[in-house]
Amino acid sequence: MKALITAGGKGTRLRPLTHTQNKHLLPICNKPTLHYALEKVAQAGIRQVGIVTNQEGLEVQQAIGNGDRWGLQITYIPQEAPLGLAHVVRIAREFIGDDSFIFYLGDNMIVGGISRFIEEFAEQKSNCHLTLSRVKDPERFGVPEIVGDRIISIEEKPNNPKSAFAVAGIYLYDSSIFEAVNRIKPSARGELEISDAHQYLIDHGKKVTFSEITGWWKDTGKPEDILEANRLLLEHTEGKIAGMVDRQSLVTGNVVLEEGAQIINSVVRGPAIIGKGTVLENSYIGPFTSIGDNCQIRNSEVEFSIILNQCVILDVGVRIENSLLGVASRVVRAASRPRSNRFMTGDQSLIEIS
Ligand code: TTP
Repeated sequence: MKALITAGGKGTRLRPLTHTQNKHLLPICNKPTLHYALEKVAQAGIRQVGIVTNQEGLEVQQAIGNGDRWGLQITYIPQEAPLGLAHVVRIAREFIGDDSFIFYLGDNMIVGGISRFIEEFAEQKSNCHLTLSRVKDPERFGVPEIVGDRIISIEEKPNNPKSAFAVAGIYLYDSSIFEAVNRIKPSARGELEISDAHQYLIDHGKKVTFSEITGWWKDTGKPEDILEANRLLLEHTEGKIAGMVDRQSLVTGNVVLEEGAQIINSVVRGPAIIGKGTVLENSYIGPFTSIGDNCQIRNSEVEFSIILNQCVILDVGVRIENSLLGVASRVVRAASRPRSNRFMTGDQSLIEIS
């Protein structure tokens, strides 16, 4: 069994962060998103992993390396353009050979291991085994129609969903998937759709089965999903204080304070993580907040947010909430008169003022 993990795509919904960074390297709980997929695959005993990147995907290669860290052997497979998930599978044929494989979308997060899915795929001798997650809004996803232990159709974003499940971004295949991805045609949006490949398998009498994901599953394509994944992961994080907390400060709940971080005259309510060398002074950090390395937060309040490395937040009179700040962003109180708001933002930034 091999693994194929995606790390390409456009990442348009995460702009402006993705103007300068591949979305799979954005940190959730201070760890690049892609690490979670690699950890799951390694825990399941898989060794050979292909990572599909954009043509200019050196950034991912540099950040992840050859896989030694996880006991993996990683092969990078460049995709000439984001032509769809079925196209990703198509270009991985040489790497996969005739093996079975797990296809894992690198921006998907789940709690718990993936070994169960691999076992169920093998036991049922399926050609294709999908993971399904029960969701409140199936109409936003690929939705399966299920009879017994089989999937008999899949509709993309249906008006009248035939089940309460979404097809999640973890799929298992034998080599019959290659015939499917080579035969299907691009969709109206010009992509080779993985749902069309699954439907092709069903239409050609292949066995398409499923496992239900019983814990949570998140596709982190949008800012609110990243914040929610951060919240869910922080809930499962144990506190560890390696940095300095002064006597005037109060730290409650599960808080990870990395080495060299300092909390001075501040209140931190976990779950939260505060990176190396970050300084908090006269500030409040509320639950579900991840702050990267070497940030400075003084006379300010931050809650339910992700703050990347080297950010500076100074004397901000309103609480920063539900926010994602890119590397080295600065949010500061203007000293000059008349009082006004000044913005120096990247393309497609979002600023909400109350
Ligand atoms: P999506 O989140 O569906 O697409 P995207 O990354 O282009 O994002 P957006 O819609 O915001 O522009 O992609 C799911 C996963 O598959 C993600 O890990 C990116 C990856 N991907 C590729 O590697 N190649 C592709 O051709 C496509 C469409 C996605």
